[in-house]
Amino acid sequence: MTRIFLAIGLITSILFSFACVQKGGEGGGATNTGDGGDTIKVGVYGDMTGQTASFGQSTKNGIQLAVDEINAAGGVNGKKIVLVVEDDQGQPQQATTVVQKLINQDKVQAILGEVASTNSLAAAPVAQSAKIPMITPSSTNPKVTEVGDYISRVCFIDPFQGSAMAKFAANTLKAKTAAILGDVNSDYSKGLTQFFEEEFTRLGGRVVTKEAYTQNDPDFKAQLTKIRNLNPDVIYVPGYYSQVGIVARQARELGMNQPLMGGDGWDSPELFKLGGAALKNAYISNHYSADNPAPEIQNFVKAYKAKFNVVPDSLAALAYDAAKVLADAIKRAGGAGDSAKLKDAINATKEFAGVTGKITLDASRNAVKPAVVLELNPAESKFTFKETIYPEGMSAPTATSTDANSNSMMNMNSMNTNSMNSNSMMNGNMNSSTSMNGNPNSSMSMNSNSVNR
Ligand code: PHE
Repeated sequence: MTRIFLAIGLITSILFSFACVQKGGEGGGATNTGDGGDTIKVGVYGDMTGQTASFGQSTKNGIQLAVDEINAAGGVNGKKIVLVVEDDQGQPQQATTVVQKLINQDKVQAILGEVASTNSLAAAPVAQSAKIPMITPSSTNPKVTEVGDYISRVCFIDPFQGSAMAKFAANTLKAKTAAILGDVNSDYSKGLTQFFEEEFTRLGGRVVTKEAYTQNDPDFKAQLTKIRNLNPDVIYVPGYYSQVGIVARQARELGMNQPLMGGDGWDSPELFKLGGAALKNAYISNHYSADNPAPEIQNFVKAYKAKFNVVPDSLAALAYDAAKVLADAIKRAGGAGDSAKLKDAINATKEFAGVTGKITLDASRNAVKPAVVLELNPAESKFTFKETIYPEGMSAPTATSTDANSNSMMNMNSMNTNSMNSNSMMNGNMNSSTSMNGNPNSSMSMNSNSVNR
């Protein structure tokens, strides 16, 4: 009997001590206790095992590389960063659950994730209401950061990415008509459909049909047959690699040879396994090009390859940048203990030299950065740089500059001499490049095929 009482007493005191490490709320923020105060606990969540597992794996690896570098250099303000990684299997419901766990159980002081916008949108309200800063490396739908001031991102957003591809279709590929095949359950896909159509129409093009699929569809032939009958100049597929690879294959099987176009969601080594040769004559907008010879990019590519034995995709690069931006903000905030201070420091990020370009967060906590257009090269299972598209008001690096990037531009030129488009740019087609940017400054460097920085 006494034993039972003792056991109950012991359990009660254990439970009580757990309750005591609950966070308090000081200065408008939250103070998660991290890991006893001598480390900084950062939560990472993403799809590690589901349909878009390549997204989560690359993200985890990019963050791991950044954190290893930070810790090897002594950590942040003398504290080492400790990662707690959660798998949400690419499910929005799971994303909510694992972020609740990261905050309430693991007491993380900041969160990095998700990739897919729908999953970030599911979990962001949890972080916002707990006042734990969340930086998404790669979710591009505008609504994600609209959740609140604790939510930010280090990537550009879809109005820019969608219109960049509409410009590429209209100006570079000279397309007059387009069909769109999008995922109706994905905020990312729905947003890009809208932004692409708006810009393409503005440029005088016509979207002849918008067809829909879901991530569970095994077959896209009905939608593709409909598109084939309308014979558009280009087909825009703003989806994720697991469906896109099959879409490409089935389109070619149906005898459709138009250019296929997409966004960052195509970016995965898995895409080439799924789509194979069908991915010839296809273009995407993306965040960086691993081929860019700029030293800051090549150093990252080298370090990543040495660790993970694969060329880093844009997710890995963005994740690396997100972790570095977070560490920089923790330093400026004087620690991660006061979450209100930390989110202010993150939101004040300016001109941070990332692998994916200079990162400055605007008033809506979105990064304003150029996008690159990449051409798919299925024979070598890689993406080849085509051109850079700059946001309004941002001019390209000038051709006269003598820094490393301008050298790298020259190299990029020679890498692209077979492409119809870079030839036309090198011939100085001011009209097309001026309209690409609406900015005569950047048209200058478009002609020299500038790369992102
Ligand atoms: N931008 C995509 C989204 O918001 C995610 C993504 C980014 C996928 C980069 C691949 C590469 O859903």
